[in-house]
Amino acid sequence: MRSSPLSVAVASLCLPAVLARVLGPLNPAPVDLTSDDSCVRSKWENITSTLEDHLTNTEHNEALSVLDSITFSLGLFSVHDPKAAGSLQYHHTGPDIKNSSFGVNKVDGNSIYRVASMTKVVTVYAGLLLLNPSDWHKPLTDIFPEIASLPKDDPVHHIQWDTITPFSLSSQISGVPANARPFDAGELSTALYLSDDPVDPTTLGLPPLTLDSTGINVPCQDANCSGVQYLEGIQSPTFPVFQSPGYANTNFILLGRVISKLTGLPTNEEWFQKAVFGPLDMANTSSLSPTKPPYAGYVVGGDPETFAFQGGITTSSGGVFTTTNDIAKLGISMLNSTLLPVDQTRKWMKPTSFTASFDFALGMGWEIYRYTDKVTGHVTDLYTKLGDAGNYASYLVVVPDYDFGFSVIVTSGIATATERSAAAHLLADLISETILPALRDQAAKETKRNYEGTYVSAGQNTSTLTLAYNQTAGDGYGLTITSLINNGKNLLRFLQATQGTNQLVLAPSMIDPKTKQRGFVATPVIPVGEYTGLFSKMFATNSDWLNNNGLTYGGQALDTFYFNVADDGSAVAALPAVLRGKSFKKSA
Ligand SMILES: *[C@@H]1O[C@H](CO)[C@@H](O)[C@H](O)[C@H]1NC(C)=O
Ligand SMILES: *[C@@H]1O[C@H](CO)[C@@H](O)[C@H](O)[C@H]1NC(C)=O
Ligand SMILES: *[C@@H]1O[C@H](CO)[C@@H](O)[C@H](O)[C@H]1NC(C)=O
Ligand SMILES: *[C@@H]1O[C@H](CO)[C@@H](O)[C@H](O)[C@H]1NC(C)=O
Ligand SMILES: *[C@@H]1O[C@H](CO)[C@@H](O)[C@H](O)[C@H]1NC(C)=O
Ligand SMILES: *[C@@H]1O[C@H](CO)[C@@H](O)[C@H](O)[C@H]1NC(C)=O
Ligand SMILES: *[C@@H]1O[C@H](CO)[C@@H](O)[C@H](O)[C@H]1NC(C)=O
Repeated sequence: MRSSPLSVAVASLCLPAVLARVLGPLNPAPVDLTSDDSCVRSKWENITSTLEDHLTNTEHNEALSVLDSITFSLGLFSVHDPKAAGSLQYHHTGPDIKNSSFGVNKVDGNSIYRVASMTKVVTVYAGLLLLNPSDWHKPLTDIFPEIASLPKDDPVHHIQWDTITPFSLSSQISGVPANARPFDAGELSTALYLSDDPVDPTTLGLPPLTLDSTGINVPCQDANCSGVQYLEGIQSPTFPVFQSPGYANTNFILLGRVISKLTGLPTNEEWFQKAVFGPLDMANTSSLSPTKPPYAGYVVGGDPETFAFQGGITTSSGGVFTTTNDIAKLGISMLNSTLLPVDQTRKWMKPTSFTASFDFALGMGWEIYRYTDKVTGHVTDLYTKLGDAGNYASYLVVVPDYDFGFSVIVTSGIATATERSAAAHLLADLISETILPALRDQAAKETKRNYEGTYVSAGQNTSTLTLAYNQTAGDGYGLTITSLINNGKNLLRFLQATQGTNQLVLAPSMIDPKTKQRGFVATPVIPVGEYTGLFSKMFATNSDWLNNNGLTYGGQALDTFYFNVADDGSAVAALPAVLRGKSFKKSA
């Protein structure tokens, strides 16, 4: 580093290198998660035997003790390995469920759990499938004209409903309060949120409340009220719209009312069924509670007396009951664009807002975790939704870079209700920290097998392309072009010179679903080096984004390479775009 006073002053700010290669996968998604040779299967078996050893008291593991009285189901799924969803599951039945007089006494892939707020992302999915794209940006006052007359002259105390849109609700950035009457902890809510042990609010220092108290307006009296009644009862905003994200059940109760209003399907269950549960044959999934004991097929974790409670308009926020097998169908459909067009899926799996932390962002219904791989430094985004209420906790996690996902569903007995959250986080950490590296290794192994080698142009051997898979930890990890000779001329040297590097790694860019032809873009490996501040860091670490296949020749990008691929995934020919259809056959 040049020793200017500035660089000396800020040198200690240098962060560990995070490789900023193009956003997206380093390799094509792996197709084998389940065979005896798969890195994923062996890591999964390591997780399940570690759990089993602890839970059967064969080998106590203090770090897992929060699971001791919990019932849970775990399941992985993959677009490209259909066997994953059925075979990579693990179920554990805790003491309360084993002994329960209601529902199942042993959990499996068809056991029906409450998944609480995992519902929110399903509500958005249904909305994306049923609404017009322009509906997402309509002010709520257009959708519900009845609320246009609500007071708005005081923006500190009055929610500006004419600025709030379904998009802002789904992205948790509407600024409306997290919970609203009657679904807050006021005097009307015993059925919904109060614990078994209600306390007198005045003993906590809160003023006594009655329906006649100043400023109380609750036209919505229970879970069956109308959207307009519910809207009218929501009091002061937390933030103005699009200022700062904040978790709010209110957002998704309202989004449910919007979907009902715009589709003409009055209940949440009708549009959930029409958009998602029906088309995906999620026959064991519903937003309606089972009506009466013995609740066959259900996991009854809490008080059996309240299990049949119908959530009414709140079910679009947290009312779904589902199974590990049905969640796999749901997740695969999202990853594989079964219901949504592929461009809309890609748009949906993007952030819509930062949060206050670097590695956590929000999307439409999504809570997005940014995982940094310890070997490659590459960032993988996990699109997730947590559920956590009462005796139930859950995660849906989808990882578009690997066309992979997993679910965690947890339930606890009444006495251990608070352990459900810690148990769900622990299980999601265990799966992600173990399986994401295994997916990296499996994808690298398959890419090496499918692409590494020498490709020779027909009829001559003065035109060759050689690829080698570099598995050395660091920013050079990946499918590397080690030689490109065209008509006896070293074309690779020219490509490297244009990118200011002597190392070019291929990143997946396009795929033709019909012919399976794949495009890759050669991206420069430029050691991150040292930098003095944010601006120099951007230029030091984002060369792929900046370069963006910048040089074209005759209209073709110099750094794009196409590969024809056989049914088993192996490349049979390489076609550097700039050579205009010239094909290099893979030699044996
Ligand atoms: C799981 O893997 C770890 C690390 O490789 C190893 O120490 C442990 O013995 C394995 N556990 C089981 C149950 O296979
Ligand atoms: C994914 O989509 C492709 C193309 O529509 C289809 O052929 C394939 O069967 C789907 N895979 C799964 C697991 O649904
Ligand atoms: C099982 O439940 C019964 C009542 O339903 C109770 O008497 C018994 O103590 C419970 N056993 C355990 C191990 O929790
Ligand atoms: C809402 O309506 C349903 C069906 O009519 C009923 O079962 C339920 O008790 C009602 N919920 C409330 C909170 O009144
Ligand atoms: C629903 O669960 C039952 C077991 O309770 C199972 O037999 C059935 O196959 C499941 N249906 C679907 C569509 O997964
Ligand atoms: C390939 O190159 C070698 C020398 O490098 C030469 O002996 C051979 O004849 C060439 N083969 C073809 C098919 O051009
Ligand atoms: C392989 O990558 C490592 C860093 O990840 C780099 O140091 C090395 O030079 C690369 N090797 C080749 C042949 O590109």
